[in-house]
Amino acid sequence: MPRKNTPPAIIAPSILAADMARLGEEVTHALAAGADWAHVDVMDNHYVPNLTFGPWVCVALRKFGIAAPLDVHLMVKPVDRIIGEFAEAGATHITIHPESTEHLHRSLSLIRAAGCKAGVAFNPGTPLHSLTEVMELVDLVLIMSVNPGFGGQKFIPTALNKIKRAREMINTAAPTDAGGVAREIRIAVDGGIGADNIAAVKAAGADTFIAGSAIFGAPDANSPNKYDRVIAQLRAALV
Ligand code: DX5
Ligand code: ZN
Repeated sequence: MPRKNTPPAIIAPSILAADMARLGEEVTHALAAGADWAHVDVMDNHYVPNLTFGPWVCVALRKFGIAAPLDVHLMVKPVDRIIGEFAEAGATHITIHPESTEHLHRSLSLIRAAGCKAGVAFNPGTPLHSLTEVMELVDLVLIMSVNPGFGGQKFIPTALNKIKRAREMINTAAPTDAGGVAREIRIAVDGGIGADNIAAVKAAGADTFIAGSAIFGAPDANSPNKYDRVIAQLRAALV
């Protein structure tokens, strides 16, 4: 069940699909086209069978002048030791998977203590039940609509029902801050998102949309307007 006051939709391009030799420019173009956050997929060749970036990529983006939120998605096991390093490197949001830590509550607390917004990610095969136990520590729920590890995979449609259930769990918990004021928990969806399914994903209850290949692999990405058309198309589907 969608909330009454849905927060503004966030579009977060995943840099995994960007031209890595021109990363600063790529992110600048995506933000100039109307994207909100940069999504940084950190893979360790252990929790997932692929290897990507360390905290240095956040440092480099900040040094380049990127001021937008950096949404770091850690697919790393064990995860605790690296949380502080990403926070120091400039991450604003850090999302972890329950399977990557022995103590989910502790790891989410570490993210908050490091000054970042905390996210918990659920793979297609992972049940949502631990969300209830850690709701007080969560700012973002990430529903994986592919199995983590690679960009360019096909959207798994059962994610839609999972988004709905996550939204119901959040609505039921009605989280508040320490002062008793209602607190927003975002629902992000990650994997295979594009213009063909983003409206359905929103209708299911998501408000944060991560897309890699649909944005950085857009057919006209080499035109002078770069990502203007694709971001406008995604945004139009969200109205
Ligand atoms: C998968 C990553 C996703 C992925 C999204 O493990 O978490 O962020 O890069 O890429 P696309 O949009 O290409 O599925
Ligand atoms: Zn991701």
